[in-house]
Amino acid sequence: LEIKDFQQDLIGWFQKEQRILPWRENSDPYRVWVSEVMLQQTRVDTVIPYFLNFMEKFPDPAALANADEEQVMKAWEGLGYYSRVRNLQAAVREVHESYDGIVPADPDKFGELKGVGPYTKGAVMSIAYNIPEPAVDGNVMRVMSRILLIEEDIAKPKTRKLFDTAIREVIAKDNPSDFNQALMELGALICTPSSPSCLLCPVRDHCQAFEEGRQKDLPIKSKK
Ligand code: ADE
Repeated sequence: LEIKDFQQDLIGWFQKEQRILPWRENSDPYRVWVSEVMLQQTRVDTVIPYFLNFMEKFPDPAALANADEEQVMKAWEGLGYYSRVRNLQAAVREVHESYDGIVPADPDKFGELKGVGPYTKGAVMSIAYNIPEPAVDGNVMRVMSRILLIEEDIAKPKTRKLFDTAIREVIAKDNPSDFNQALMELGALICTPSSPSCLLCPVRDHCQAFEEGRQKDLPIKSKK
């Protein structure tokens, strides 16, 4: 009943307060995939115009699969981390050829595609297909380290897996899409790195760090 209240408070807040963003217009898996690849190393405000342009030029997997690599690179120019888009086009070509242009609704199959790591897999499977997979990035680790008072070093590669396991226990199985997006949105708008707005937080009653006044000590991140 405690977890249910947490899920309801989190999802209810997201449904009321979420930002209007172009990739939230519909849950087309290809759109969600492109947006999540762009958002992995680039901020929302920067991504928006690139996303709109990319969708106009390459509206579906067939368009991206058949596009010249040069045109695709041009649409990505300025976003950086160019291996992201080379991998994306290679993976979309695989979807086009092996899956008839349908992004597989199977985390294992989707996760085998080039450039699709655990975060992209969880984000696309949950947001597009409502499959209850965690989507753990730095923002989600910050939010969940506070809520669950997890003191593991988030700079260590092994720690992501620990958060994945912890989130599996609390994810809303009936709405993993909104649940995961709500964690991302909370990290962006409320549960920020240095000065979290706990008095505005929809889940502060469920937050172990807030209860102990330790929100600013978390997450623990070594330099190395
Ligand atoms: N950061 C990563 N994924 C995001 C999403 N779907 N919406 C907003 N910010 C994000």
